Amino acid sequence: MGDVDGLIHELKELESRALKALGDVSDPDGLEAVRVEYLGRKEGRISQILRRLGALPGTERPTVGQEANRVKGVLQEALDARRRELEAGRDSGPEARADLTLPGRSPWVGARHPITWVVDEICQIFRGLGFSRVRGPEAETEWYNFVALNTPLDHPAADEQDTLYLQGGHLLRSHTSPVQVRTMERFDPPVRIVVPGMVYRRDTYDATHAPAFHQIEGLAVDEGITFVDFKATLAEFSRRFWGPDTQVRFRPSFFPFTEPSAEVDVKRVVTLPDGTREESDWLEIMGAGMVDPAVLENVGYDPERFTGFAFGMGPGRIAMLKYGIPDIRLFYDGDVRFHRQFRHV
Ligand code: DAH
Repeated sequence: MGDVDGLIHELKELESRALKALGDVSDPDGLEAVRVEYLGRKEGRISQILRRLGALPGTERPTVGQEANRVKGVLQEALDARRRELEAGRDSGPEARADLTLPGRSPWVGARHPITWVVDEICQIFRGLGFSRVRGPEAETEWYNFVALNTPLDHPAADEQDTLYLQGGHLLRSHTSPVQVRTMERFDPPVRIVVPGMVYRRDTYDATHAPAFHQIEGLAVDEGITFVDFKATLAEFSRRFWGPDTQVRFRPSFFPFTEPSAEVDVKRVVTLPDGTREESDWLEIMGAGMVDPAVLENVGYDPERFTGFAFGMGPGRIAMLKYGIPDIRLFYDGDVRFHRQFRHV
């Protein structure tokens, strides 16, 4: 054994020390220091070893020279890789890898939109009362959106629901009521449906208006449906949705497609743990009424034989009242800080 084995051993030790030093550096200056120490041309450790080759017999030199070149190559590659890591801003050095006290990163799992919660809850309650959930097109004709609903195009109610007109005589529906007509055209009574969906109006986007918003329509038509069924169904719905002590009131109103028409208001009553009762103001939650015989006639139902009631509400408005949301735009701006609050509702 001679100097050859000794030098090769030295080279191998130097290799592992250099690799460890590279793993420990955390900035470009540290990296440069390691490079100079091991790979530096004059004073670098490998150069120093190579200089000692001269003292070896000529036949032994290539063995040590080859090993020195291998170590040089390995170190040069490791150095380049570490440089790229540092440049990419990653520090995979031992300290970075070892901090087990950091909280885990849980994936963002998404949240249901608060209006989706409200729509589903409302439809679920009506399902329990025998109503099916159906949908209809958002691009409508004037017939379905206005005329069949007993609203002539020059009627002021048509103006109030000014909407966006498309090509080919279509318009974006200004309410979900056209689905009443579409359903009655396709099915004979009894009909009991709820219809969630988007509607469109030429409204400015502000705290209480959006040009595209949600509605839920309801319709029940059969033989022998009376005003009592109408009031009882909507009162029962209101108590199931807002709580068993909720008070309900029907105020006279007007819609072209119902006669008589009403606005339905609720007053929420909550009993606190100490027994005191808290009452909200009256909150307007929907328009409603007994289906106008003219609408039944338009779909080919015999208005002497069939009667029914209809209602329409805004789940966005209901979600605002239910969750205390002050601005309708929060629903539509897509800020996750808003949405993630509804993850566990
Ligand atoms: N379509 C009405 C609106 O958008 C809401 C409405 C009122 C629907 C009374 C109804 C109803 O079915 O009976 O303003």
